[in-house]
Amino acid sequence: MDQIRIKFTNPLRGELIPPPDKSISHRAVILSALAEGKSVIRNFLHAEDPLSTVGAFRQMGVEIEVRSQKSEVRSHPPIPPLLRGEQGGVVIINGNGLSGLRKPQGDIDCGNSGTTMRLLCGVLAGQPFSAMLKGDASLTRRPMRRVMEPLTQMGAVFKSENGYPPLSVTGGELKPITYKSPVASAQVKSAILLAGLYCDGVTTVTEPEKSRDHTERMLKAAGAEIKVEGSTARVKGRTVLSPQDLTVPADFSSAAFFIAAGILVPGSEILIKNTGVNPTRTGLLEILQTMGADIRLENEREVSGEPVADIYVKHSTLSGIDLGGEMVPKTIDEFPILCVAAALAQGKTKITGAKELRVKESDRIATVASELRKMGVNVAELEDGLIIEGREKLRSAVVQSYGDHRIAMSLAVAGLLADGETVVSDTDCINTSFPGFMEIMRKLEG
Ligand code: S3P
Repeated sequence: MDQIRIKFTNPLRGELIPPPDKSISHRAVILSALAEGKSVIRNFLHAEDPLSTVGAFRQMGVEIEVRSQKSEVRSHPPIPPLLRGEQGGVVIINGNGLSGLRKPQGDIDCGNSGTTMRLLCGVLAGQPFSAMLKGDASLTRRPMRRVMEPLTQMGAVFKSENGYPPLSVTGGELKPITYKSPVASAQVKSAILLAGLYCDGVTTVTEPEKSRDHTERMLKAAGAEIKVEGSTARVKGRTVLSPQDLTVPADFSSAAFFIAAGILVPGSEILIKNTGVNPTRTGLLEILQTMGADIRLENEREVSGEPVADIYVKHSTLSGIDLGGEMVPKTIDEFPILCVAAALAQGKTKITGAKELRVKESDRIATVASELRKMGVNVAELEDGLIIEGREKLRSAVVQSYGDHRIAMSLAVAGLLADGETVVSDTDCINTSFPGFMEIMRKLEG
């Protein structure tokens, strides 16, 4: 089990390109596998989670070639080097069409990836065969009823122990539904929309608040008949999906650690390039700006149907904030790092309406609270959020990730703001989304 030892050395200065977007990489594989013909995915996230999705479709007979891209660390003094993760790859997929999948040999292992398992449930619901889905210890603790219920209404048959993995899915003839999801979840919405591709007629999903909309955008680009109005998405089934040539932007959720570090570490100034800024993902920017952060978007553009920009951040003093409601789904993966920022803001920060954090890769309300307390922070745990009292400096400590990549990286950033050396244990999990994270951090420190 790896560990990270970290302490403040120098301000973080330079330019970087975060790794490719994880959510978009998963969806690019899925929709390419279901399209008819050859798709090319550029800047694919070559990390454990999306590779679980690749493995699943290979097991179902889809020809997928993964070419890894050589890393690029450009150094041209006096401008600070452009740091780039080593994850970007080119993936070529010969799609079999909606009905071209074959029954997998053996169980499909989704590893740590909730997105792989839940979106696959949607695809498998429409197949004329059964498949068994399993995952690692963390995934085995994550609730699947949220996808099983609507997909069962559509006609799929699931077997599981109390709605947790491993689970078997038997697909078949599906009928379209109009579903009001009790949770704002892109995984639930996407599973239903993918199953909707196998229905005669229109499938409708409405969420309490709008979650990330990458599936909708990519389905539209592939020629599906999809309409979005507010937090409702409708897809008409049985349309042939076209292959695509698409480029995945850098992942905002990975950029988030450097956005926070650049703001929190005195003297820092960072430009985070080519990053996805889909408004369903960038709650963290709005929140940090309201807290007083100096953040600017530059060079805003669109790449493969997704908004992309360069994000400039500079060290700033933050004040506490109260937040909840529609900000929650837009910020869902950024709460651990936002809590680190709150721990260093002036005054109190109160987060509510974020119960979903309890069912992520770890119970992120509990894990953030316990680890920040070890670093001297006053934290109250609420059923659906946290109250965090900011302080000027954190106390160095030995902290742990609980096998959760976003907790590991958030604590590494916290370590830069502590009064001595902090040890973060169990950091192998960082490879699920951001191989090379610490190398980039160290290079920014100069
Ligand atoms: C994801 C959706 C979110 C997010 C997860 C990735 C996706 O989960 O937390 O990391 O790719 O669809 P929920 O949709 O369950 O909120």
